[in-house]
Amino acid sequence: MHAFNLPRKEGSKMSALVIRGGQRLVGEVDVAGSKNTALAILSAVVLAEGKIVLHNVPAVSDTRIKARLLEKFGAVTQWEGSTLHVDCTHLHDGDADEETVRSIRTSFYLLGPLVARLGRVTLPAPGGCKIGARPVDYHLKGLALLGATVNLEGGIYSASTMGLRGAEIYLDTPSAGATQHLMSAAATADGITTIDNAALEPEIVALAAFLNSLGARIEGAGTSKITIQGVKKLSGGTFTIPADRMQAGTYLLAGAITHGDVTVRGILPETQTAVINKLREAGAEVTEGADWVRVVVNKRLKAINVITMPHPGFPTDMQQPMAALLTLAKGTSLVEETVYESRIGHVPELNRMGAKIKLINGKSAMIDGVTKLQGAVVEASDLRAGAALVLAGLAASGETVVKNVIFIDRGYERLEQTLTSLGADIKRVEVHETELA
Ligand code: EPU
Repeated sequence: MHAFNLPRKEGSKMSALVIRGGQRLVGEVDVAGSKNTALAILSAVVLAEGKIVLHNVPAVSDTRIKARLLEKFGAVTQWEGSTLHVDCTHLHDGDADEETVRSIRTSFYLLGPLVARLGRVTLPAPGGCKIGARPVDYHLKGLALLGATVNLEGGIYSASTMGLRGAEIYLDTPSAGATQHLMSAAATADGITTIDNAALEPEIVALAAFLNSLGARIEGAGTSKITIQGVKKLSGGTFTIPADRMQAGTYLLAGAITHGDVTVRGILPETQTAVINKLREAGAEVTEGADWVRVVVNKRLKAINVITMPHPGFPTDMQQPMAALLTLAKGTSLVEETVYESRIGHVPELNRMGAKIKLINGKSAMIDGVTKLQGAVVEASDLRAGAALVLAGLAASGETVVKNVIFIDRGYERLEQTLTSLGADIKRVEVHETELA
């Protein structure tokens, strides 16, 4: 599989990360803004009839692509470091090309806000990391309840409405994306919308805060019932994206897997509760302050069981990196994935490095801890599998080459620079595929 679903060109150049493992990571890091919050906000921005200034937007490929996609609908975007200016004053139904739309999952979350704003819109079906079927049925049912007619023909969604109206929406499971999408679409609908069994993720709280800062009237974000009192229109505004909890969690795990001492600053520790508790259970020393978390590991960790759940349960996005950590823990760990059907691309690659992982039911991992991993040439199959392989490479003896960095670049800003600042030996190289075969 190749990034963005594009066919791979024979002999084409690609980036790889070369890691010489065995360095103990020590130090303090800041993390970039949250990718998933930024992506949700970059769908909602089309509702604003004024200029939006977003600070702390992570410079990852998904946010760049999303900004380019907005331009296809008439938005004017401009990057200034990590600040993104977006002006959606003059929007039109776009010529969003399939390649751009398919390269990220959240392109689809534009459908509701765009139909709310324009009355009619067409959008190719979405893509994103291949970690399961990732249906969009909750989104479609919710949009229908809000009064949009949505058709799919030839891989293109077309949506139209005479005007969205408030509705009572119930989600069969608390989907983060459906909650974000429908909450945004309902912000300017006529009347009151309720979303029951809503997702509780911090990204939803941040999105509601953003929309409210533009004049929306949303209550209950962060609880399982969200109430949206539709307003006539949203204005422009300025918003700062909070830190990325998945990047933060990954650096904490990097500290743990290298038996290091890593402090991640500028984060909300309560968004790390599940990861912190699991690290403690495995034997790591974890301390936290108002906006930082520190992990110290001085001895071999012990095996634990982890089960992924919607927030505030253990995040599926940390499942693969956590599995990498547990490959070296003493005893047998069970890592159960319940959110996605197929988030397992890290398993064969970690086994190439000497891990002993067996798949159960095609989606959960039984991990027999080994005392060491050996460097190998491995391939990232998706964003978090890539992060897991980097973590394994940091702890492995010898050299690890992680191919398909393009996946990691979707969600980690300055990954190798951050790890280098903690003492890792990691560099990015451009190679011909045949050189690594
Ligand atoms: N689902 C349905 N029908 C729907 C929507 C979702 O069955 O209409 C199912 C999905 O197939 C999945 C589960 O519900 O099995 C959860 O999906 P959810 O909608 O919560 O996920 P998402 O919005 O597609 C976001 C993040 C993911 C993260 C999940 C869960 C973004 C851009 N993506 O995806 O992040 O894993 O929430 O927390 O916000 C990542 O960053 O690596 C990543 C994949």
